[in-house]
Amino acid sequence: MVLTISPSTLVFVLALITTVAWARPGSEDIDERDTAHQVHRTRRSRGIKDFNPEDDSEFWINGAQNLLSTKLGRKPITGQAKNVIMFLGDGFSIPTLAAARVYLGQSLGATGEETVLSFEEFPNTGLSKTYCVDSQVADSSCSATAYLGGVKGNIGTAGVTGRVKVDDCAAMRNVSNQVPSILKWSQDAGKSTGVVTTTRITHASPSGTYAYIANRDWENDAEIKNSGQDPDICDDIAEQLVNKLPGKNINVILGGGRKEFRPRDFTDEDGTPGSRTDDVDLIEVWKADKVGRNASFRYLWNRDQIMSVDPTDSDYVLGLFNRDHLEYHLLANRRKEPTLEEMTTFAVQALKKNPNGFFLFVEGGRIDMGLHDNKAHLALDEAVEFANAVQAAVDLTDEEDTLIVVTADHAHTLSISGYPVRGNNIFGISGTSSVDNLPYATLSFANGPGYKQPEEDGTRYDISRDNTMDANYEFPATSPLYSETHGGDDVAVFARGPWSHLYAGAFEQNFIPHVMAYASCVGNGRTSCNDNRK
Ligand SMILES: *[C@@H]1O[C@H](CO)[C@@H](O)[C@H](O)[C@H]1NC(C)=O
Ligand SMILES: *[C@@H]1O[C@H](CO)[C@@H](O)[C@H](O)[C@H]1NC(C)=O
Ligand SMILES: [Zn+2]
Repeated sequence: MVLTISPSTLVFVLALITTVAWARPGSEDIDERDTAHQVHRTRRSRGIKDFNPEDDSEFWINGAQNLLSTKLGRKPITGQAKNVIMFLGDGFSIPTLAAARVYLGQSLGATGEETVLSFEEFPNTGLSKTYCVDSQVADSSCSATAYLGGVKGNIGTAGVTGRVKVDDCAAMRNVSNQVPSILKWSQDAGKSTGVVTTTRITHASPSGTYAYIANRDWENDAEIKNSGQDPDICDDIAEQLVNKLPGKNINVILGGGRKEFRPRDFTDEDGTPGSRTDDVDLIEVWKADKVGRNASFRYLWNRDQIMSVDPTDSDYVLGLFNRDHLEYHLLANRRKEPTLEEMTTFAVQALKKNPNGFFLFVEGGRIDMGLHDNKAHLALDEAVEFANAVQAAVDLTDEEDTLIVVTADHAHTLSISGYPVRGNNIFGISGTSSVDNLPYATLSFANGPGYKQPEEDGTRYDISRDNTMDANYEFPATSPLYSETHGGDDVAVFARGPWSHLYAGAFEQNFIPHVMAYASCVGNGRTSCNDNRK
């Protein structure tokens, strides 16, 4: 019998099969057992009784041949990048990416492993080496100096060279130790600029676009005093954003962190006090600066406002939607705070009106925080939101004139382990240990608060008594730490648009902005505009 089947029917059948497989996660039917690898796989355990296109060569050959044709039909884009959008998934390690893909697919009723996140369709990828000058494993501040300024620095510092040690205020104020970012280079070239994040806007990653700081914790003046430094000499991060260049010239600033801008005795929009001890309300200072420059501006603090105003009607927009970080997307009151996707859409629309183009930095900042808490569910959901924000930018821009770069600052210690059957719930049990006969989870961490104390008799904690599907579940960790750590592995770079093919191979993280600058013809290095003129 010859079975002919149209591509759309195939997709439907596949969806049906994967849905069935997903509906039966962790099924225990075992026909074959490869004891060396403890691989447990059967047709029945996948819920596939009759026809699974993946069983036939055609399925895989057709997919590969189609991709081959797509790639052969593509030519590198070598015009000037009018616009550059950099997406930074904080702590978005490669295992986190793979798990997020499965999570997304499973939430749509598929097995998940085959799901493609928006930016995985970008034509070019590379690997970025994330260590810092004095640290094998990066934090978000020294890595920000690398991927935004093109120079590596010391852990705990942002926007300054390796000559600046943590807390060294004098060295930080020395201009020759400061590392301007691609956001500054873009402003100098007449482009509009924007910064969007789900964290406090003064947090490590976004601070790398506008601050020169010897301690990432110096988000307000009180923190500088806590380090035994003088806030009259040493400007905190919020102050640098509002009063200094390039911060005061940033057209669109969207994120959280109102408390870093407001005095302690000030009750803000949500009825909570600020953190500053200098009696300065930096939000009012920001507004006064725009008035003084006769520029149109808006200050926004809730979702209704950002969803109802015209993004193109102001020269400057400051949106601070939480006194602290924005809420995790999965736990947020959706009416109060915009999503990363909504903020990205607003920013691109606002910045597009400059005929010289723009540079926009967008951070999915809470992937990292979910991982620090071993709360894989929250982290993967943030990762999916991040992918949605990338898609929004893709939809609003043209590949011919806009370079989009998606990467992470550093890895984490999440691993995807064991040999769970295809479609097994990503938050589920992977298998049973042949040493102690107890189950282990697919997702686990090298360290963190999810560490489980052994039983009194010394046996390993039995995770089958836990509800691992709970959004706040702390996945198991090998070493107990209050906060899980970053990882030292390389992170991925995905890129589309002009000169994105230069992100091939493995390279130092500080290479990243050099390519963005080359493509968009900003900064002091080699540019595509100069090369094309020769
Ligand atoms: C500033 O930094 C440069 C380079 O690190 C150094 O040569 C110079 O002496 C410093 N200036 C002061 C005033 O410390
Ligand atoms: C301020 O801007 C408005 C509108 O752009 C313009 O009409 C006005 O002349 C400006 N005033 C000054 C003092 O530049
Ligand atoms: Zn972190």
